[in-house]
Amino acid sequence: MVSAISIEHLTKYYRNFKALNDVSLEVAEGEFFGFLGPNGAGKTTTISVITGLANYQKGSVHVFGCDVGADYRTTRALIGLVPQEFNFDPFLSAEQILSFEGGYFGIPWREAKQRAQELLKLFDLAEKRHEGYKRLSGGMKRRLLIARALMHRPKILILDEPTAGVDLELRHQLWDFLRRLNREGTTVVLTTHYIEEAEKLCSRIGVIHKGSIVALDSTETLIRKMSGDQVELFLKARLDFLPVSLKSFQIFLEEEGRKLRFEEKNDAVPKILKALHQEGIEIEKIDIRRPTLEDAFLKLVGKKDKAFVLEEGKE
Ligand SMILES: Nc1ncnc2c1ncn2[C@@H]1O[C@H](COP(=O)(O)OP(=O)(O)OP(=O)(O)O)[C@@H](O)[C@H]1O
Ligand SMILES: [Mg+2]
Repeated sequence: MVSAISIEHLTKYYRNFKALNDVSLEVAEGEFFGFLGPNGAGKTTTISVITGLANYQKGSVHVFGCDVGADYRTTRALIGLVPQEFNFDPFLSAEQILSFEGGYFGIPWREAKQRAQELLKLFDLAEKRHEGYKRLSGGMKRRLLIARALMHRPKILILDEPTAGVDLELRHQLWDFLRRLNREGTTVVLTTHYIEEAEKLCSRIGVIHKGSIVALDSTETLIRKMSGDQVELFLKARLDFLPVSLKSFQIFLEEEGRKLRFEEKNDAVPKILKALHQEGIEIEKIDIRRPTLEDAFLKLVGKKDKAFVLEEGKE
């Protein structure tokens, strides 16, 4: 079966800067794929290449078997893009933004107008249809971006941080909407800095870091592979720094010195409890929780704060 998106050995430079380094990944038709990575990792750049907005130097990129460069019109029409930044024409109303978008994709005017009405209603923007986008709230603009991406009924929807600055209720509505769209057959690619959101929605995750793919797996496998159960010790008194005797453990001092966190492995629990007892550090409460995607993500790309993290074997 042909993949919805197929990227093979993609390398991209911005002048001398290598933004993508030998990136390979496939997204199957019908998948809900999460594309994660810290700021500047290369997510938007990858999306720009897939949607034909950026060139590249090495590798190949196909959408449903068509080359994104040679068959640009075909591949672009298969994709709905929700960009990270608002890029609306400031002189158009919400309704015009949608119907003109239909025009770009060759939808007859009447049909485009009707589709625009449907989407304005679906995204609760009907009341604002005559407003210019500058007169919409942040959440409304996000909804309009998604509505615009859906005008031409794309087979793939790529969302670049669609929930940035979106309130909790709207975020839940968007999640439900995206799940439904995916169930109905649309392939979804989502980038987000809310790792929990990716864990909830995506069946498979790719993590990019400094232009290279560092993980590509089903969400569950990724979590299981990367991290064991997390032990959290809530302390009776605040700790300013970790005592020397705890140096040999990989242990994190969190919540302004009120919590110690570490992974349950190699008998860490009794060893650490003993060390804490010897230091006279008292514990108020112990929690053990299953690892989350965020634990896995931080392990893959986390910047280790030297003030708080003492790695095994290091002074
Ligand atoms: N047009 C450009 N010209 C030069 N460098 C660029 C350009 N766009 C992006 N970059 C650089 O490429 C790298 C990857 O940027 P990109 O926007 O793809 O990151 P991202 O993963 O989307 O990050 P964020 O989560 O902050 O949106 C960064 O170092 C960035 O500065
Ligand atoms: Mg980005």
